[in-house]
Amino acid sequence: MEGTSTFPLPSTTDHVRYTDGVLTLDGLALDGLVADVGTPAYVYSLDVMAAAMERARAAFAPLGGQVSYSVKVNSNQAVLARMVRLGAGFDVVSGGELSRVLAVGGDPARTTFAGVGKTDEELALAVRHDVLVNIESADECEALNRVAAALGRRVRCGIRVNPGVTVDTLAPMQTGSAKAKFGLPATEARALLDACLAGRYPQLSLLGVHMHVGSQVPEPSGMVRAAEVLLDLLEYAQQRGLDEFRRFDLGGGFPIDYGGPAVPTVEEFAAALTPLLGGRRDLDVYLEPGRSIAGPAGVLVAQVLYRKHRPGQRMLVLDTGMHHLIRPALYRTDVHRILPVLAGPSAGPTVVVGPVCESTDTFAESAELPDLAPGDLVAFMDAGAYGMVMASHYNTNRKPPEIVVENGAARVARPREQWSSLFASERP
Ligand SMILES: Cc1ncc(COP(=O)(O)O)c(C=O)c1O
Repeated sequence: MEGTSTFPLPSTTDHVRYTDGVLTLDGLALDGLVADVGTPAYVYSLDVMAAAMERARAAFAPLGGQVSYSVKVNSNQAVLARMVRLGAGFDVVSGGELSRVLAVGGDPARTTFAGVGKTDEELALAVRHDVLVNIESADECEALNRVAAALGRRVRCGIRVNPGVTVDTLAPMQTGSAKAKFGLPATEARALLDACLAGRYPQLSLLGVHMHVGSQVPEPSGMVRAAEVLLDLLEYAQQRGLDEFRRFDLGGGFPIDYGGPAVPTVEEFAAALTPLLGGRRDLDVYLEPGRSIAGPAGVLVAQVLYRKHRPGQRMLVLDTGMHHLIRPALYRTDVHRILPVLAGPSAGPTVVVGPVCESTDTFAESAELPDLAPGDLVAFMDAGAYGMVMASHYNTNRKPPEIVVENGAARVARPREQWSSLFASERP
């Protein structure tokens, strides 16, 4: 860290640092970056996302792991285009995400489609483009078989398994527990395999197993236990002659450092999985991280609109809120550090709120911030994942513009919306 800041940054955000007292991203001052578009604005380093992708690849290379990008976390076309240039696969969870990937030249043969509630329209889009579908229920198998038959195509599939493993992340982000809505329990997955072998779904080529046990997973043991369940299933299928049943998709979930307790690295996850998966020639390992690729690479820059005072409390009202960055309100988690763009000594704990007419529109109860005044800028750290993609027009507010930085140069990857465009398609 350089300059006069009193706000240390952890290593996951080395690209965001103070230089001569100004917060910079990839060496570019954040106040200058948003000068033209104004605030609030998301700013992402595409180079940092690319580096995170390469790091995940390198960590899992000894296991033969192939890495896809989880589109849901940040689906801006500039981000996806960079992933295409890196040769990444993609994991999508809707027809809209798949359309984004196709529009930017992503390889459909290396795109997978997850999700508990795919519609016929979405399944047909996947089938037409030969996208692999990770199925979640016997009913979905019926639907996919019917849709593929109508199109006269076969479709590559994986089985999303519910391993019955509860990882120690926040409850709303646990997706592998027995009660979670995601995936098929192992017994049902076996029954599905048997039905397939008996010829019940002639259009489906079952190629392997898929899991995703949660997000911001704090340590690897749950992932290892879940992988054991999947391995059983893979062996069950192969023993029954399904030799091409080799895909072993671990999902995402690798944690990032929000400035709280230390989290394990992607290398540590790979090391923990190595005793189980290392040296196996009968399977092909895949993963689909999202947060760990895009999260640390982005910040949300906002402006102080007003100061307010409550008994014993300082309060700042920003021009951004839960309509732009909802997870702090939704989960009371992903608590993003809030840093002043111009460094200064802390003036004590500050309540930081947004402008939306909801009391939950509160980012921090006690952020350590300098004595900021209207017009001063702050930046939310680690906001590159699950930020803009979850933004809404609530209160008929505009979503923020998005700026990307690549090779030291910045460009607007999505301009600010017009108020009139927010209701242009409505019929008075
Ligand atoms: C199927 C699937 N894969 C990958 C991810 C990405 O997870 P993360 O951002 O925690 O890496 C998710 C997130 O919900 C998911 O549902």
